[in-house]
Amino acid sequence: MTIETDNDLRQLKVIGEIVASTLKIMMERTEPGMTTLELDIIGMQLLEASGAKSAPKVTYNFPGYTCISINDEAAHGIPSERVILPGDIVNIDVSAEKNGYFADTGGSFVVPPSTALKDRLIYATKQALNEACEYISDGKRLNGIGKTIQNVAKRKGFKIIRELCGHGVGRGLHEEPKEIHGFYVPQDKRILKEGMVIAVEPFLSIKSQHVTEKNDGWTLSSGIGNLSAQFEHTMVITSGKPILLTAL
Ligand code: CO
Ligand code: CO
Repeated sequence: MTIETDNDLRQLKVIGEIVASTLKIMMERTEPGMTTLELDIIGMQLLEASGAKSAPKVTYNFPGYTCISINDEAAHGIPSERVILPGDIVNIDVSAEKNGYFADTGGSFVVPPSTALKDRLIYATKQALNEACEYISDGKRLNGIGKTIQNVAKRKGFKIIRELCGHGVGRGLHEEPKEIHGFYVPQDKRILKEGMVIAVEPFLSIKSQHVTEKNDGWTLSSGIGNLSAQFEHTMVITSGKPILLTAL
């Protein structure tokens, strides 16, 4: 969506803060030995207490309140009886709706003990999102986002998962502009405009550039043995720095 009124911005800030704090608390409460379903229930309770509804559930009838993806799973992992183990890279993606407004956020972390490679992957992915946010402003080319993400990945020695994209958000979970790629698409002529609300979400990986859907019909795996990470913010484009709606 594009913001038209003060109320639009106010409501987006409300739902942005809800998904951001839900993600933060879920990350803090993650412990080895718990199942991803138990972690999802924490997310469900936090969203309910805030008067928000899970966006993947209301939009796609996703079988969970949040997406929890582990190790080779890049995205859309279904909360299940899977037990979280020491050393796992866990990605939690939280998106929700309140009063007709949507926001989307996500983050990855390692359940200790970590390794240097896992730490570098997490740091590089966070860095890719940070640098993309620094690039984004009114009048810039949309494909500069992918170029920025790709440059960080290359500099740090990681790959991009090519199928997974950022997107417009606000009145729905996935809106125009769709397919904000994590790599440079020279022929993409789209321009970022003040007031546009977008979610940017780099997915970096240690070796794979592709995902395939698992038999559950949802989970996107980047291949056994691969590791991937994602960070995501919802933001409003301005003539200066974007307003990060999902940064606490
Ligand atoms: Co998301
Ligand atoms: Co998203």
